[in-house]
Amino acid sequence: MKVEHIVVALTAIVLSSTVIAQVKPEVLVKQRQAAMTLQGKYFGPMGAMARPENPAPFNAAVVARNAGFLDALARMPWDGFDASTKDVKSATLPAAYSDAAKFKQAGENLQAAVGKLVAASKGSDEAATKAAIGGVGKTCGGCHDDFRQKP
Ligand code: HEC
Repeated sequence: MKVEHIVVALTAIVLSSTVIAQVKPEVLVKQRQAAMTLQGKYFGPMGAMARPENPAPFNAAVVARNAGFLDALARMPWDGFDASTKDVKSATLPAAYSDAAKFKQAGENLQAAVGKLVAASKGSDEAATKAAIGGVGKTCGGCHDDFRQKP
């Protein structure tokens, strides 16, 4: 890598972190909640198809579309949990900031599970796809248990 390239790359990193730091904490909270709300929107119908009792009819096209949306959404909320938002009223428990490494891991677990779902949704194995939906649901619930106030 040429020195100029490194300088450009470093400048880009500094600029992008500055941009995030300037977003008001209240706005970051709204944005992360919005990303979560949309995850709920697109996960919900898939969760209904995969539940053991009284499942909704399996629809491979809906799963493939929603898994793709979730793949993008599952990358979005995390910079909204910036330490600057600690004192803003929200459903996030203090542990998300005090145990940021565990929180980050929980976010990575979600992204890995969604990756598996995207792969499964491209095949034609309904049981494997439902298992992958269940895997995603576990990562949602696991993080909510540890880091989100009980409604
Ligand atoms: C790494 C942790 C983590 C993972 C993984 C996670 N969530 Fe959340 N979720 C949270 C936290 C924390 C909140 C509370 C946000 C707040 O109020 O600041 C939340 C809030 C929500 C909300 C309420 C949003 C609102 O309007 O306030 C929904 C819906 C939601 N999550 C759905 C999901 C779904 C569906 C998944 C999986 C596809 C998921 N979440 C995965 C941590 C997580």
